[in-house]
Amino acid sequence: MTEGAAEKLAAIAQPVIAPLTRDAIFLVATVNPGTASAAAVRSLCGDLASLLRAVGFRDIEGQLSCVLGFGSEAWDRLFSQPRPAELHPFREVRGDRHQAARTPGDILFHIRARRMDLCFELATQLVSQLGDAVTVIDEVHGFRYFDDRDLIGFVDGTENPTGQDAIDAAIVGDEDPSCAGGSYVIVQKYLHDLPGWNALSTEAQERIVGRRKLSDIELDDAAKPSFAHNALTTIEVDGQEVKILRDNMPFGDVSKGEFGTYFIGYARSPAVIEQMLVNMFAGRPAGNYDRLLDFSRAVTGSLFFTPSLPLLESLAAGPPAVLSPPAGTQPSAGQPSPPSVRSRDGSLDIGSLRGRSASKGSSQA
Ligand code: HEM
Repeated sequence: MTEGAAEKLAAIAQPVIAPLTRDAIFLVATVNPGTASAAAVRSLCGDLASLLRAVGFRDIEGQLSCVLGFGSEAWDRLFSQPRPAELHPFREVRGDRHQAARTPGDILFHIRARRMDLCFELATQLVSQLGDAVTVIDEVHGFRYFDDRDLIGFVDGTENPTGQDAIDAAIVGDEDPSCAGGSYVIVQKYLHDLPGWNALSTEAQERIVGRRKLSDIELDDAAKPSFAHNALTTIEVDGQEVKILRDNMPFGDVSKGEFGTYFIGYARSPAVIEQMLVNMFAGRPAGNYDRLLDFSRAVTGSLFFTPSLPLLESLAAGPPAVLSPPAGTQPSAGQPSPPSVRSRDGSLDIGSLRGRSASKGSSQA
């Protein structure tokens, strides 16, 4: 993508590529039955920008932002606009020992700011505007923890792409013209077994993550096991690394003994994150799974599409969709076929799904 094209896409995208903030609220909700519920959600698509301005203007320095995403079934139910080419329900991955399970989720709000009160106020306004139209099924308040570390003590986010690389990684381009400027986002809530993790030596933890704990320096290839987290989440297509944009946040509830990481990954194609999940849970090669999972359990999993700002506006205006069969049961014309999680090498053929250069051939995981 040229610099000019990337700038244009970034200008119309929701604030996916927002700076890392101190605080965040993640809200996942289902849309309640009935046409009134659907209408309320559509109406919010048009009101989000002004709500954000109203709350955000109370402290411009607070950098309040909000990204709104929709799940596959919700898209079919709420909107008549063409569905994003790669939107489908979250694809579970079942490894021999660990599972990435799918949990319900029609809409996602990813609210970020430098102050929790801004996040909290916006979340309150959103939920009150939606009223009976939705049921919030998961609410997580994330915070930054010493030097951008997660609760397992490692710096999290170091290898995130920046600038144009971030746009290239996270924002849909002309491979899906009606959805250009959008982004796919996968969220998973992980709960850590901190006593188990802390019983490991620092060196053992470093081999699992693939980086030094104190300095955050990457282990060199000779010292890094093939099961290291950063080895299994490094994806190459035609010798080129394909990145995603993450903004993981620690969260917890001390009295319940709950210590977690909220994983959130944005990508231009969900296939990239799905490939990482296959590598982590099923293993690369099969069985060589991510040992982080022995100490971190994924308790939720959902995929959403975040439309561009102009598309979001038009979703508010659009007429209700005619009811269609639940997405995911029958791939519709033009939709990519299910990823080849079943394929022998575990590859998802990302090259063709990304619409980069289908002719370039095989993907390499
Ligand atoms: C318990 C949940 C997770 C924790 C605590 C965690 C933590 C970390 C840490 C500490 C790093 C190294 C520093 C960095 O580059 O950010 C990292 C890297 C990374 N993680 Fe995770 N992660 C989690 C889940 C995931 C999931 C579910 C995915 C994708 C499906 C993922 C994708 C990545 C990627 C792409 C990198 C960068 C690899 C590289 O280029 O070196 N992570 N993660």
